[in-house]
Formats: sequence, C-alpha cells, structure tokens
Amino acid sequence: MFADIAVGDWIMLFVRWAHAIGAVAWIGGSAFFAFVLRPVERANPDLVRPLLRPLGSIYRELVDISVIAIIITGIILMFNRLTGNDASPAWFVVLGVKLALAVWMFYLVWHFRQSDFDPSERPTGITARLSWLIGYNAMVFIGVVVFLLASILRTLFENSIAS
Ligand code: HEM
Repeated sequence: MFADIAVGDWIMLFVRWAHAIGAVAWIGGSAFFAFVLRPVERANPDLVRPLLRPLGSIYRELVDISVIAIIITGIILMFNRLTGNDASPAWFVVLGVKLALAVWMFYLVWHFRQSDFDPSERPTGITARLSWLIGYNAMVFIGVVVFLLASILRTLFENSIAS
C-alpha cells in the first residue's frame, strides 16, 4: 500500500515532520508566553510572578531543542530542494527572506539569554519602545510570517514541478 513511497521519500517526510513540529513547538510556546501568561501575570502579578522563573527555565529547554531541530532539518530540506534542480528564482527569493527572518528569530533567542531576560521585569524608557521589536510579540509575529513563507515555498515548488 505504501510501496509508492521510496525510502528516501520516507526520510524526507520525517525530516519535514520534525522541522514542522519544532516550528510549532517554538512558536506555540512563545505565543502561550506572550498572549496567555503575560496578560494573566498583569492581572495577578503576585500569584503568577513566582511561577515565571521555573516556567521560563523549562520553556528555555523546549526552545533549545526546537531551534536545534529546526536548523538541522531546515538545512537538510534546503539541500534536498537544491539538488532536485526544480527550485525557481522566486523560490530562492522567498527562501532568502525566510532565512533572514529565521536568523532574526535566532538572534532574539540569543538576545534574551545574553540579557538574562526576566519575563517578570517591565522594560522602561527606550527599551520599552524597542521591546515590541525584540520581545516575545516580535518572536510570535515573525514566526507566523515564516509559516506563511514556508507555505508559499511549498506552493512555488509544487508549481515548478508541475510545469
Ligand atoms: C535554518 C533555518 C531554516 C531553514 C534552512 C529552513 C528551510 C526550510 C525549507 C527548505 C523548507 C521546505 C520549503 C519547500 O517546501 O520548498 C522549509 C519548510 C518549513 N519551514 Fe523552515 N527553515 C528554517 C527555519 C524555519 C523556522 C525558524 C520556522 C518557523 C518557526 C520554519 C518553519 C517551516 C515550516 C512550517 C515549513 C513547512 C513544513 C511542511 O511543509 O510541512 N522554518 N523550511
């Protein structure tokens, strides 16, 4: 029944699956922090703040595993597409934008770690103004855009095989 799927295709199927699961875990986890925990913390600071540090350290591990999985599988997916000779110029342009946004997201993770980011601390002054660009909201926003670009990549690729 599954004889139509070659061994190599099964491998790429699992690589694609791991890439997508890593992306969902990372962006989903960040969305939970930004849109659930933050508002709840604002409404009940005394109740939620003591929980943020232990939650943050486990969230950190989830992000580490996801980012490593995304990078390894993303590189494999990219080379798999490139060796097929079916990638169009538009595919390369969209992949370039996707990679640039992915690098920005990796930078955000690094930035959170460097500044020993404490989710319970409120930024002030210029940091407050910049915080949207470098905070969890940005991570979720860029992540959602990257998901859209991934769908565009797939459609571009399927169209170039069909034509
Ligand atoms: C090192 C960075 C990355 C590389 C090299 C990379 C590369 C790729 C490639 C080549 C594809 C296949 C595109 C196609 O179908 O033609 C893909 C799919 C995808 N990427 Fe990435 N990516 C990276 C980072 C990310 C990040 C940060 C996210 C989201 C947070 C992400 C989410 C996705 C999703 C959801 C898919 C679609 C998977 C599917 O079709 O089931 N990628 N990626």
